Amino acid sequence: MRTIGYWIFFTTKTVALSVTVAFSLAFNTHAESLSEFTGDAERGRLVFAQCRTCHYPEKFIGHHNGPNLHAIFGKVAGKQVGFDDYSQTFKAAQFVWTEDLLFAWLANIEAMFPETTMMSLGVTDPQQRADLIAYLKRFR
Ligand code: HEC
Repeated sequence: MRTIGYWIFFTTKTVALSVTVAFSLAFNTHAESLSEFTGDAERGRLVFAQCRTCHYPEKFIGHHNGPNLHAIFGKVAGKQVGFDDYSQTFKAAQFVWTEDLLFAWLANIEAMFPETTMMSLGVTDPQQRADLIAYLKRFR
């Protein structure tokens, strides 16, 4: 019974999360889309400075206060081996990181994942988000 209870709990959470992600991407119509911007990786390196307090994009350095972000696009969220501080939201997540999704998430961290443990204000400027994504794409 206990096991079934947990299963229902996690399934409910996962479905709720998937709906949140889909909703954020599909119905946030007034928001900018990444395709409207051309990212500059060199400027993005400077934008990423605020993320570096918690994340390394270089594979060989490993995790920090946040998980390593090497080749993050294409990975399933919240599943990086060796990083033990994921929130329940990310542990249960079943979506893949895309550039569009990161672009949308960083616009408003808590709107998309209210229970995340990531203490960041995100990046409000869409051009800066595009630059940051261009920088992260270097690491793959
Ligand atoms: C104060 C520390 C901190 C800062 C600053 C921070 N992060 Fe995070 N980040 C985290 C933590 C902790 C998690 C795990 C979140 C969770 O499980 O809810 C995370 C998760 C992530 C993930 C998901 C990784 C995965 O394996 O699914 C991405 C992508 C990410 N952060 C990008 C960024 C970017 C880009 C910035 C800069 C704008 C940033 N983060 C700033 C701590 C931080």
